[in-house]
Amino acid sequence: MNILFASSEVHPLIKTGGLADVSGSLPRALKGAKQEARLILPAYPAAISRAEKLRLESDIVLPGARTPVRLLHGWLPHSRVRVYLVDSPEHFDRPGGPYQDEDGKEWPDNAARFALFARAVSAIAMNRAGLNWQPDLVHCNDWQTGLVPALLSCKSQRPATLFTIHNLAYQGLFDWKTFKSLKLPVDWWSLDKLEFHEQVSFIKGGLVYADWISTVSPTYAGEICTKAFGCGLEGLLQHRRERLSGILNGVDYRVWNPGKDKLLAQSYTARTLERKHDNKVALQKAFGLPERAGFPLLGHVGRLVDQKGLDLVIKLIPQLIRRRLQLVVLGTGQPELETALTMAAKKYPEQIGVRIGYDEDLAHLLEAGSDIFLMPSRFEPCGLNQIYSLRYGTPPIVRNTGGLADTVTDASEANIAAGTANGFVFDDVTSASLLEAIDRALGCYTQPDVWTALQRTGMAADFSWLRSAAEYIALYERIIEAPFEHPDCRQQRLHKIPAELST
Ligand code: ADP
Ligand code: GLC
Repeated sequence: MNILFASSEVHPLIKTGGLADVSGSLPRALKGAKQEARLILPAYPAAISRAEKLRLESDIVLPGARTPVRLLHGWLPHSRVRVYLVDSPEHFDRPGGPYQDEDGKEWPDNAARFALFARAVSAIAMNRAGLNWQPDLVHCNDWQTGLVPALLSCKSQRPATLFTIHNLAYQGLFDWKTFKSLKLPVDWWSLDKLEFHEQVSFIKGGLVYADWISTVSPTYAGEICTKAFGCGLEGLLQHRRERLSGILNGVDYRVWNPGKDKLLAQSYTARTLERKHDNKVALQKAFGLPERAGFPLLGHVGRLVDQKGLDLVIKLIPQLIRRRLQLVVLGTGQPELETALTMAAKKYPEQIGVRIGYDEDLAHLLEAGSDIFLMPSRFEPCGLNQIYSLRYGTPPIVRNTGGLADTVTDASEANIAAGTANGFVFDDVTSASLLEAIDRALGCYTQPDVWTALQRTGMAADFSWLRSAAEYIALYERIIEAPFEHPDCRQQRLHKIPAELST
């Protein structure tokens, strides 16, 4: 199959979170399974500088851009995956991140930026970008690509569309004035289409019009159909339940493998676990913490946002300090969480280390050097960090939700006896429930046999892309065979009304 994989971030070209990891590794895995998967993303400066063998492919005239948009062609580093970069300097050539400026403020023209990106994707999808290539399926990811299925929906000879939700909490919502400025079909401003509480919702473009919707774990696929996790879109998702599924993310064990990881102080495997300790020492040093015999080191890396539940950890700090342990956190995000963590590190310099910022190399050392990985998320579509920590012999403490529930098996007595336990799972979004799990983990940590068994079980688990990519391929085939026809398109077809959708 020819697959066009559209994403707003792709590792190692540009990354803010797990979406980049998935976008960088799933197309490779598809390629390995003999599928022709090609990537498309905006031409941010970092992507331009990191893509290999970049050249100009064609110029495309698109609504919303003052000049023709240049389509660049290159390769994902160290791979056989083609990459297209949508080069519109007025939209993408600026310092800062893919969605925010250097101070963490959303770019004011995000609607225009990702509408333009979606229009470029759909031009390629319709083989109107001078490539002489048409995908059989466009795989869209998150709200930044949500307009693609909508733009394509009523076109004849269109490719199939899959829309994957990596995080339903980010929806791409913009006001009426912005919607009008995008010059999209005005009838999209209606509740059964893209309107959402008097705003235009880019994610609804994917949820309403895609042939199929998927998300990144089976548990999250069920959760988003409920009020508690549906972010107001649960009704729509229930309506599309028959065409909604969950496929657990894979991880790239070439990048995340403690046996070969060059970013560690010391590599190790399940058989040489004693070497893991060198990484703990290096991590303590990196965070300015002293070595403390017998103190387990708890670690967290991630975006500091409500989703990740770090506020539960912050509330527990006085109790944690008394428990003779150390804690290191690497992250960036909401200022109040950053401040609370920084202050805690100042107050307890021997037990808490905090690094505010984004540091890919340190993230690897943190996975390896911590004894226990903390991931108390309120919701977690999949979560990759807990999967990395399993492979690094760092048992995770996670909440029973989304992909965390699908990857971590609690160290209950029964699971320990059965040899299936690989971490600690707690239920309630409360500090008390988290503390109970931490105490259970600390209890196991003092029993070397139990602890080593947990580590080894986690390290032996296989979450490579092989299985997940096969599931995607089977899904792509199914979607291509049985496309979804939106009721509007049926009407247009029956009454021969020309599609007025602009690309
Ligand atoms: P999410 O996508 O919600 O952020 P995931 O667990 O799926 O969560 O993926 C997070 C990815 O981003 C991981 O690869 C993690 O190492 C990385 N990451 C997040 N924050 C940071 C940071 N401050 N420094 C380095 N890497 C980070
Ligand atoms: C999102 C989710 C995370 C998931 C990642 C990749 O950012 O928050 O749970 O692992 O996407 O799918």
